[in-house]
Amino acid sequence: MQKRLHHGGDYNPDQWLKHPEILADDIKFMQQVKANTFSVGIFAWAALEPQEGEFTFEWLDSVMDNIASFGGQVILATPTAARPAWLSQKYPEVTRTSPRREKMLHGARHNHCFTSPVYREKTSIINRKLAERYKNHPALFMWHISNEYNGECHCDLCRAAFSAWLEQKYGTIDTLNDAYWSAFWSHTYNDFSQVEPPSDIGEIFVHGLTLDWRRFVTHQTIDFYKHEIVPLREITPNIPITTNFMGDFPQPMPFAGLNYAPFAQVVDVISWDAYPPWHNDYECTEETAARLAFLNDYFRSLKNAPFFILESTPSMVNWHSVNRPKRPEMHLLSSVACLAHGADAIMYFQWRKSRGSSEKFHGAVIDHDNSAQNRVFKDVAQVGEMLERVSEIKGSHNPAEIAIIYDTETMWALGETQGFIRADKKYPQTVFAHYKIFRDGNAPVDVISPDKCCAEGLSRYKAVIAPMLYMMPDKLANALALYVENGGTLVTTYISGMVNESDLVHHSGFHPKLREILGIQVTETDSLYPTQRNGILYGNASYKALDNCAVLEIADAEILGTYEQDFYAGSAAVTHNAYGKGAAYFIAARTEEDFLAAFYEKEILNHLNIALPQIKSPRGVSIQTRTGNGVTYYFVMNFTDEAQTIQLPTDMCDLISGRTLAKGQQSLLPKYGAMILK
Ligand code: GLA
Ligand code: ZN
Repeated sequence: MQKRLHHGGDYNPDQWLKHPEILADDIKFMQQVKANTFSVGIFAWAALEPQEGEFTFEWLDSVMDNIASFGGQVILATPTAARPAWLSQKYPEVTRTSPRREKMLHGARHNHCFTSPVYREKTSIINRKLAERYKNHPALFMWHISNEYNGECHCDLCRAAFSAWLEQKYGTIDTLNDAYWSAFWSHTYNDFSQVEPPSDIGEIFVHGLTLDWRRFVTHQTIDFYKHEIVPLREITPNIPITTNFMGDFPQPMPFAGLNYAPFAQVVDVISWDAYPPWHNDYECTEETAARLAFLNDYFRSLKNAPFFILESTPSMVNWHSVNRPKRPEMHLLSSVACLAHGADAIMYFQWRKSRGSSEKFHGAVIDHDNSAQNRVFKDVAQVGEMLERVSEIKGSHNPAEIAIIYDTETMWALGETQGFIRADKKYPQTVFAHYKIFRDGNAPVDVISPDKCCAEGLSRYKAVIAPMLYMMPDKLANALALYVENGGTLVTTYISGMVNESDLVHHSGFHPKLREILGIQVTETDSLYPTQRNGILYGNASYKALDNCAVLEIADAEILGTYEQDFYAGSAAVTHNAYGKGAAYFIAARTEEDFLAAFYEKEILNHLNIALPQIKSPRGVSIQTRTGNGVTYYFVMNFTDEAQTIQLPTDMCDLISGRTLAKGQQSLLPKYGAMILK
């Protein structure tokens, strides 16, 4: 088949089985917007198995046939994210139990127990039937496992599984007691069965326990996922498997309930659901775009490969505080913004608006008017055409010389930590603030996990930025040391390297390996009230320091910047240390964007000669590159509210418009305009 980017979305014909005329319209409209890929059956369990053991696949057969008839592809879902009423009624064990030990009722979605043998058995049966029935169907292209896995269950089965997981991890209860520092408040356990999952009616202060519970929830979710795919791997070994991950706004972070780093290992293709709040009243469009970019870079970096936007909205959602439709041109721009960072698919939730229940006002390709004449439909058709015109970018890669470490476990741990600025340590905000400097400078960045640092090493990066990397297990410290020793450049900050994987503070309060690489010792951390400020003198300028200021003792490091005030005035606030063939920098305090911009421009972008696109663009016009088959593609995106001009170093062709743009000449990019140049 000819190379094509995926365009389409969540298609729920199971809501319209009594309306064959609507289903016929769907097939017609799909072709009109050049949609080619559909996630089908996501919540269709009740339509596929209306009574236990009674299967009704005929409707799905015809949906699959109809999509195949025009060359469309189906990402066939396992329906486990919501279940039929008969299942909960007959087997109450399948519903969840809350942290307060309340048994949940049937309803909503994602409220099943991942441990329940009955739920697993019923899942196996339906998944096997789907695989057997559609294994040779020409439309079957990929599996969509469940939907946005999330949540936790505290039932007896889950608690027993947690106990077994702990026993497997620690071997003896004594080792667990050491890891949890359980002598504190007489929390010593005598045996594994006494260890209860965290709950606000019980234990929430043993941080090692809370971390372990979150790790267990990730483990058990992945275990359930692995169970789901057994029949699929067996019957359709050549069909790739994905499951849709979630990203958050306005603080850009992957859904915090699960750690996606280990999850990524067991899926074939990374997919995520992107719902940026475009056109809000608290940030400019460029900022919203930067948050989207961060998440795109995070999800791409999980596998260092092109990924799927499995859900996005062509207009608005229904669950933001204010649900604004995309303004004209934003749908195309926001789609290009995902392609630019490595997406090979732009898909929607949802294909068609439902008439009832909670998502009836969520944006869709087909609105309640069932018409091809409205603005959203036309915007979608425009994106469909664009995707066909630019299909040669499919499979191309995003080269990055800089990596930023984002750690879900540090996020969890800092969330529990009492200390510093207690209410919010601003971990994701800080990682994003550092990221944004590179994005503003059009320098490509990978956003990577500590797992990846340890498993693959960091040698392909010229610089690794690790803001607030609070949790520093030995193996991570060793990976960072090896990287710097071999010539890499590391930048880290206050509140880094403080605890081990059980959230136990390192002896001396700072990982010894970091001390060695950085040539400093952190002696204390001063947290400031919201209006208090210190200052940093760096280069010839003075910058604000806020929130957290680490006080340092210098061993070998060179001092690049000093504090301006308070009892540590004149002491080191920014340091550099040569270590092996590389270098390590420490930024001791939180600063504003101006300091980060000056620091990174001098010490990283210029000093390390980071490759930047040759196209000159004004602020707010972002440029990203993908490369494939020896071709470099430049994605030029105007996130400002005005037309902008860019200047090209050579003649280039815009794949979107088909126009050739001449070297040197000023090329106009309208408000929200986008180009893909080669
Ligand atoms: C999630 C879900 C979808 C739908 C959308 C609405 O991403 O996966 O089923 O609820 O949100 O935005
Ligand atoms: Zn359970």
